Amino acid sequence: MARAKSRYVCQSCGSVHSRWQGQCPDCAQWNTLVQEAAEVSSIFAAKHNLQGGGRVIQLVGLETPTALPDRLPSGLAEFDRAIGGGIVAGSAMLVGGDPGIGKSTLLLQVAAKLASAGRDVIYVSGEESAEQVRLRAVRLGLGSAPVRLAAATSVRDILTTMTDSEPPALLVIDSIQTMHSDLIEGAPGTVSQVRASAQELVRFAKEHGTAVVLVGHVTKDGTIAGPRVLEHMVDTVLSFEGERSHQYRILRAMKNRFGGTDEIGVFAMEGAGLAEVPNPSTLFLTHRGEAVSGTSVFPAMEGTRPVLVELQALTVRLASGATPRRAAVGWDSGRLAMILAVLEARCGLSVATAEVYLNVAGGYRLSDPAADLAVAAALVSALSEQPVASEAVVLGEIALSGEIRPVAHAGLRLKEAAKLGFTSAWVPKGTKAADGLQVAEFANLRQLVEQILGR
Ligand SMILES: Nc1ncnc2c1ncn2[C@@H]1O[C@H](COP(=O)(O)OP(=O)(O)OP(=O)(O)O)[C@@H](O)[C@H]1O
Ligand SMILES: [Mg+2]
Repeated sequence: MARAKSRYVCQSCGSVHSRWQGQCPDCAQWNTLVQEAAEVSSIFAAKHNLQGGGRVIQLVGLETPTALPDRLPSGLAEFDRAIGGGIVAGSAMLVGGDPGIGKSTLLLQVAAKLASAGRDVIYVSGEESAEQVRLRAVRLGLGSAPVRLAAATSVRDILTTMTDSEPPALLVIDSIQTMHSDLIEGAPGTVSQVRASAQELVRFAKEHGTAVVLVGHVTKDGTIAGPRVLEHMVDTVLSFEGERSHQYRILRAMKNRFGGTDEIGVFAMEGAGLAEVPNPSTLFLTHRGEAVSGTSVFPAMEGTRPVLVELQALTVRLASGATPRRAAVGWDSGRLAMILAVLEARCGLSVATAEVYLNVAGGYRLSDPAADLAVAAALVSALSEQPVASEAVVLGEIALSGEIRPVAHAGLRLKEAAKLGFTSAWVPKGTKAADGLQVAEFANLRQLVEQILGR
């Protein structure tokens, strides 16, 4: 028999190497290679190749009639929205998020809702004792929900318990990094343990029609800890996001084999748990009274829902010849530089000696180029100390030539703005007006500057 070679597995990307190195050659992370038990080469594998001795599998055509997957509404509409309309039986989901963001709270609420609706739900915590989970349930007002709880970390024990009786409709594993499979060596949380435990649990889900939700830790840079393969093994990857200092939490699908990834679920973290926010359009709008210079409102889109956000700009003229600072929070700094360059080159505004700060209110992040015009409006308003009308929303994409391009979903965005009491809109030329909104059309950025300067 061949000598068992030791192998070194990168804990960050999962690549395998034959010797230890300080830096992983594949993902360039330092000190991530860990020695793991070698793959067992069985006598069978040594003696046989794979081209004979197997069973012939039956091949079927695409046109075979198949029912759409059954979706189980969880009772939390925002959760269902993010995963594409309900939990699919036999699917595996992975929920990632920063420590303390509310993953356990969210899943306990989903579990309790489903259990109260008469479904069999099992919640296994590897991080907290059953007592701690029960305390949380009581605090959330869910103490009477018939969820079956356990504190366990052995995948074998969990699966034995599952197959002992009728398999549940939903199994929550909090978290996959604490699970331990005795099929292979290694401490819980290592790449091979996480992979093996997840594989066993996902296989159980597929075989028994139980939906499995795995909680995953995230690393410092925000990716789910453990191997990337974990994300490939599950059907849906969800990320639970939010600034801890802000009340709002967003559940976003990064991957979904059963639906789109463009819808988000919005929650507010309150004393009694996560409250659903079915209408998030004013969430990120700070209190608006009289118009102040340096702010503008942009109707952003989240999936099919418009969300109004406030952009704030501040400029400070530098008397000395020092290099001015440019900083953007919630907006790409490259795009900020581009808009400043267009303002300088096409509109004759001098920004070279000004420090520029741009902030998207409420901790919201914008990446939609349709916000260009609103960013430009806030900047011009800050530079000239002339406010943008407080009852106006601004949208449009800026081209390098200074032209203003039309944006997607302009109708939906304007309708929402009108519903929230805005009375005018600054839009690209050719945009259809919405009821109750006065539109001012702009063909190029120079016209916007003139409008704000009141010329
Ligand atoms: N008594 C309380 N009243 C109000 N909010 C609370 C209370 N206890 C906890 N919270 C909120 O719940 C959050 C913790 O939620 P939860 O334990 O679900 O997070 P988690 O994502 O599972 O964290 P971890 O990664 O540690 O498992 C806290 O950050 C806090 O905002
Ligand atoms: Mg937790």
